[in-house]
Amino acid sequence: DRGNHRHFMAKEIYEQPETISHTLSHYVDMGAEKVSIRETMPFDFAKLTRLTISACGTAYFAGAVAKYWFERYARLPVDIDVASEFRYREPPMEMGGLSLFISQSGETADTLAALRYCAAQGQHVASLVNTQESTIARESDVVFPILCGPEIGVASTKALSAQLTALASLAIAAGRARGVLNAEQEADLVRALISVPNAVSRALGQEDRIVEIAKKLSKAKDVLYLGRGVMFPIAMEGALKLKEISYIHAEGYAAGELKHGPIALVDEAMPVIVVAPSDELVDKTLSNMQEVAARGGKIILITDEAGAATVGQGVAETILIPQVSNFVAPILALIPVQLLAYHTAVAMGTDVDQPRNLAKSVTVE
Ligand code: M6R
Repeated sequence: DRGNHRHFMAKEIYEQPETISHTLSHYVDMGAEKVSIRETMPFDFAKLTRLTISACGTAYFAGAVAKYWFERYARLPVDIDVASEFRYREPPMEMGGLSLFISQSGETADTLAALRYCAAQGQHVASLVNTQESTIARESDVVFPILCGPEIGVASTKALSAQLTALASLAIAAGRARGVLNAEQEADLVRALISVPNAVSRALGQEDRIVEIAKKLSKAKDVLYLGRGVMFPIAMEGALKLKEISYIHAEGYAAGELKHGPIALVDEAMPVIVVAPSDELVDKTLSNMQEVAARGGKIILITDEAGAATVGQGVAETILIPQVSNFVAPILALIPVQLLAYHTAVAMGTDVDQPRNLAKSVTVE
């Protein structure tokens, strides 16, 4: 049931304040301002020397954000790869390590093959799934649910924000277990997480502006998305979402890589979407952005008030997200990239929920 929405994708984007709350209520003890993991964990975060993550598509970007979180807040080194590469790489693995597989459907063939490889290598196998009665869940030693309800749109939206919410909680749990976070630091991070559903509602309030920007975007042939740090996977997700449902060619790039090649593409016809809320890296990203502006590129900047205050000339459009803690900012930055892709596709009249050539669940390699 699409409710009042034209597409399942819109319904699922708009459900996110609710679905994120649902995920949070599973992982967070709101009163105590602590993360509480209910699943029995067959491993000890304190003893791990490495975490290996594999996934495909949007689920891979969830893992790519989580890599920054586990490394920063738990000082746990993370290896991450798309499952289709991981499975054939035959990476050497230390016995007793932890491998985590992220999959909305729990049925993705490459992710499952990567899981089986890790199980055979003596790894603890953990999965983060939406469908708990799935093959990946069945073959895991521990299953972390994301609890966002069925996702119908082929383009994944609410599953990613739920994956990020669960992964943020796991990173806090790991940080505590590894003695990196004290109780006060944990409480700070948990308060930031608790603030997300309300902030996401406010981010969704930017829709009217985004509709206007999307009309212009729908005329583009190629779009570049730039981000740095945790915003890099969000930039890649923005590009994936746009190409999936609008069929416009888009690429997500690490902002610092711009001058190593892609800047050659920039001209007046090329919209460049810069995902850069204020954080310790924002000045660097904004200076990359100025290089684009200097070459006539049309910049659409996704930032917050503090970020917008530091920007000079050259930005065609600014989309503001609420000012939140750096920790949860990637979840907020996700909202405008979803809405931009959605409204661009609507403006073009494509089949948003069933884009050509795509299946919701990729069960063959
Ligand atoms: O069910 P999974 O999370 O394993 O699916 C992984 C990808 O196939 C999926 O995220 C795909 O990239 C989506 N169509 C993205 O919108």
